[in-house]
Amino acid sequence: MDVVEDRVPPLTPGDFERLRAFVHEATGIRLAPSKPYLVASRLWSRLRALELRSFEDYVQLVTTGAPGPEREWAIDALTTHETSFFRESKHFPSLIEHARRHRAPRRFRVWSAACSTGEEAFSVAMVLADLLAPGTFEVIGTDVSVPSVEAAQRALYPLERASTIPPELLRRYCRKGTGAYEGSFIIEPMLRQHVSFLALNLCEPPPPTLGQFDVALLRNVLIYLEPAEKRVMVHHVVDRLLVGGLLLNGHAESVTGLHPDLEPVVQTVHRKRPRRAS
Ligand SMILES: C[S@@+](CC[C@H](N)C(=O)[O-])C[C@H]1O[C@@H](n2cnc3c(N)ncnc32)[C@H](O)[C@@H]1O
Repeated sequence: MDVVEDRVPPLTPGDFERLRAFVHEATGIRLAPSKPYLVASRLWSRLRALELRSFEDYVQLVTTGAPGPEREWAIDALTTHETSFFRESKHFPSLIEHARRHRAPRRFRVWSAACSTGEEAFSVAMVLADLLAPGTFEVIGTDVSVPSVEAAQRALYPLERASTIPPELLRRYCRKGTGAYEGSFIIEPMLRQHVSFLALNLCEPPPPTLGQFDVALLRNVLIYLEPAEKRVMVHHVVDRLLVGGLLLNGHAESVTGLHPDLEPVVQTVHRKRPRRAS
């Protein structure tokens, strides 16, 4: 058998461009042209695991044929999933104020629209569980990355990730792992009942079964997109907001001018207003 080399083989400009096109088609994200080395180093362990000798073979594998686990793995490896519990917590007062005004019997519904590994969705759920009666709210997390969605569904996190959770919420809604789970914590089953995750590409229209939402968080994904893709993504999310519902976006992002039904509330918080007669 051939010996698989120990150092990162070269990623040719042609293969890099094919990978960029693949990621763009799958997610709307355009990888920076200056990043071939980063891409090569992210994929290198996979090449080794599959005993492939060149990036050309790997690119061939993920860009041709039916979608499958390797394609999902590559999308996950080539996109950024950085997140944390209670990230950009300046949004939480707007969420709380909106939830306080909610009246049953309809459930209060929140969409974490690029949820990564679930920290954002569980942070929202912890805040809502303190405000609303059990069973009267629901949080849905979606992400294009299947491995990220699977991690979110496990709801199991390394202990150091807990440092940004307010202590009283940590006590109420998280359980420290023991035995095989030493060094981890898990989200309480009672809270998990209110949260579900599914894989969904925001560049495509969401399925009707997703329903309508009171609040949508679209945070720290628009920064990776070009204007045309930003507009598409914002439209897909805002179309699923109820009139009067809130869109929360990341502090490094702007949705100004991307949807005619959005009006600013405070920085990075927009409300969906009724459609104006044209
Ligand atoms: C940097 S993380 C942000 C996570 C979280 N919203 C936060 O602010 O902490 C960006 C996430 O967007 C996801 N993403 C990228 N393109 C996407 C698309 N077309 N549809 C859905 N999710 C996408 C990535 O997989 C990644 O998990």
